Amino acid sequence: MPTNSRLSGLRDHEPARRRALVGDAAGLEPEALAAFGERGGLALAQADHMVENVIGLMAIPVGVATNFVIDDVDRLVPMATEEPSVVAAASNAARIARVHGGFHTSASGDVMMAQVQVLDAVDPEGARLRLLEAKHELLSLADAQDPVLAGFGGGARDIDVRIISTRTGTQLVLHLHVDVRDAMGANAVNTMAEAIAPRVAEITGARTLLRILTNKADRRLVRARATFDAELLGGAQTVADIVAASAFAEADPYRAATHNKGIMNGITAVVLATGNDTRAVEAGCHSHAARAGQYTALSHYEQDSDGNLVGTLEVPLAVGLVGGATRAHPTAQAAVRMLGVESARELAAVIASVGLAQNLAACRALAAEGIQQGHMTLHARTVAASAGAAVDEVTAVAERIVADRKVSVDEARKALARLREQRGSE
Ligand code: MEV
Repeated sequence: MPTNSRLSGLRDHEPARRRALVGDAAGLEPEALAAFGERGGLALAQADHMVENVIGLMAIPVGVATNFVIDDVDRLVPMATEEPSVVAAASNAARIARVHGGFHTSASGDVMMAQVQVLDAVDPEGARLRLLEAKHELLSLADAQDPVLAGFGGGARDIDVRIISTRTGTQLVLHLHVDVRDAMGANAVNTMAEAIAPRVAEITGARTLLRILTNKADRRLVRARATFDAELLGGAQTVADIVAASAFAEADPYRAATHNKGIMNGITAVVLATGNDTRAVEAGCHSHAARAGQYTALSHYEQDSDGNLVGTLEVPLAVGLVGGATRAHPTAQAAVRMLGVESARELAAVIASVGLAQNLAACRALAAEGIQQGHMTLHARTVAASAGAAVDEVTAVAERIVADRKVSVDEARKALARLREQRGSE
């Protein structure tokens, strides 16, 4: 049964009940999302195999973003984040895109690149061409390191060689391009780079130094596009203001950094929930934002001929479904099952779409009522819970402290006491 991502009223349930509703809507068996339970799915013994000197675990909330239609498929999206209002904002933006068909994506391919740094070449231009002449030999040497990848239709595809001027002199950099299929690809390309380096040294008559992937994964670009309904956004003026906000971020690096932070609120949350490498993705996205020499916005907004808002985003996304924490972490596995994605390409499409949705939600709030109102309403729920409000008391307490414009634990305690008194006397 295909997923239905239109789950209204999720907020009114307890986490366990929500989990059951999400599992149902995603067509999963009852136990499929059990890893999201109390301990966060990871046993200490499992954690002990993942990193060094393990002393414990740190839990992060996972919320589910609703309403997403991505390339004509409904997706319920797990988001791991400590920031209030992120999940609600993404769901809301997805609702505004849904009436015009949701998100549409395209990708450049699953190619990662490794760099081999070459020092002290006597004839850099000649060395460069000798390497290019040896392309097939180098590609075969690289492929021999990973027959499994070749078996899945991936493998080394191309090389290019650049000559760069540095403050310690001229250097040569060989790039090895590898189709990594459904892997994030770091291990595969790093192994290949180390394997071809001795031959690169022979061919160039020079010395190789660093052999490592580049996180500027610009052969693994993903693009997402959506039309956001003008009326649901708040009208023509809001559309025009979001376009002006977008132009601001395109022109000014100070604004672009914050604009892109809003995009990463969505991207990192899904990358983390699915056990992927958040730092690799962040390094890739920010390097892409600076690709023309000046740091700029990763997304753009325009008004279409019907007056609706068209949002577009392009980012490099080095994410995978096989290997790493995605395979080892039970919660990441459950997150992948909830999403129902079957390839790294589909996962990347979801991540880019959530990034765009998150960004639209922030731009809309900033261009309309400002960010604090919505943020405070949701933050108030956390404050109410910290003050001791039970599940059936949180909403009422949060509403009171927001109405009084006093969002603090102290005020929440007083509001809770008043609520209990009131309920006791009813
Ligand atoms: C806050 O986490 C993110 C925003 O600052 C993004 C933005 O300004 O576009 C609201």
